Amino acid sequence: MSLGPTGSGGPSTAGAPVEGELAGGAVLVDDIGELVTCAGAEGSAGAEGSTGPEGSAEEALGIRHGAAVVIDGGVVRWIGPSGQAPAVDRRVSVGGRAVIPAFVDSHTHLVFAGDRSAEFAARMTGERYDGGGIATTVGATRCATDDELRTLLAARVAELRAQGSATVEIKSGYGLDIATETRLLALAREVTDETTFLGGHVVPAEFRSDRAAYVDLVAGAMLAACAPLARWIDVFCEPASPHAFDADEARVILEAGVRAGLLPRVHGNQLSHGPGVRLAVDLGAASVDHCTFLDDADVAALAGSDTVATLLPGVEFSTRMPYPDARRLLDSGATVALATDCNPGTCFTSSMPFVIALAVRELRMSPAEALLAATVGAATSLRRSDIGRISVGLPARLTVLDAPSHLHLAYRPGVPLAAPLWG
Ligand code: NIG
Ligand code: FE
Repeated sequence: MSLGPTGSGGPSTAGAPVEGELAGGAVLVDDIGELVTCAGAEGSAGAEGSTGPEGSAEEALGIRHGAAVVIDGGVVRWIGPSGQAPAVDRRVSVGGRAVIPAFVDSHTHLVFAGDRSAEFAARMTGERYDGGGIATTVGATRCATDDELRTLLAARVAELRAQGSATVEIKSGYGLDIATETRLLALAREVTDETTFLGGHVVPAEFRSDRAAYVDLVAGAMLAACAPLARWIDVFCEPASPHAFDADEARVILEAGVRAGLLPRVHGNQLSHGPGVRLAVDLGAASVDHCTFLDDADVAALAGSDTVATLLPGVEFSTRMPYPDARRLLDSGATVALATDCNPGTCFTSSMPFVIALAVRELRMSPAEALLAATVGAATSLRRSDIGRISVGLPARLTVLDAPSHLHLAYRPGVPLAAPLWG
């Protein structure tokens, strides 16, 4: 089936390629309406069609028209004009659809039990989010069995993959005791290598009268038990919340994590201006996530560092908070990523396309900037150069859109356009 002139409609789903179709021998993915490599000029060199002005986000998308991709053994082997493709075992037509790199969801909290929809409803009628609801999820999660949590996690990962995300970072943080934090990380490790120890999420009720003892536990015995199961360490650094951690507490936990071989990332500046961004930059964290309330010094610090500013606009949507100022960050030269923050409290969506639509409409990112942030930007925040782009020699993690171009991700919000096209 080929995709004709679209007018207001998209292609029908008849003949759409399905997940798994690229397994087996060498496959030519052909009839690509628009190939977005996110590999910049390298991705578009020699291709027909247009890219944006040099150095622009549009150019960084590396868009190719009339291109095809050869995949073998789960790796991209060739990209070039369709008519010059090498002979292969099989050909898969995507019927004029757009093909983009699979999304990288670099910030989620997927391992939890319980339901907080009533808390969301209360926020929609004026309640403020302060992190206190995390205790509800901790209570339910501690009571759940491994099998119950595994089933819940599998459903969430399937939901996320079905919407085109191939890589997911998963945090612990709903156990807040040694036994449960290690359980959550072990379960997360069953589905991803990008696991994050978040014992420093909030101070649990049993430590409320002795916060220092909880910081000692997280930076001591809990870290020792969890470090072998994690790649990253994260802290909710938010002095404006009575439940979260101030800069000194967060520093103790993060520095202990680094000594234990973990790489730091930070929840910062979500609820108010605060020390999270500067702490993250100071520690050389890979990412500081939320960045909703930034002053000039925060923006300058991010722009002059390798720390990625990860924006999570689904959180502002679901908490009725003001959106972060993405333009200020982008215009300063900071690296920006987008992620879902899928969690039961502040944002229970698994949809990167929804986040992209919010970023374009509410954060005033261009469609190109938003797609780059959801792929290469998020990959950079995980210090990965093998994901988030389509390039010869890299794993073939392709997402197909039931649309002729990536612009439809924001143009058609809420429509399930994205689907996985990897083996
Ligand atoms: O990223 N801010 C802290 N942690 C999560 C929310 C967790 C919850 O409320 O359950 C976040 O927004
Ligand atoms: Fe989070």
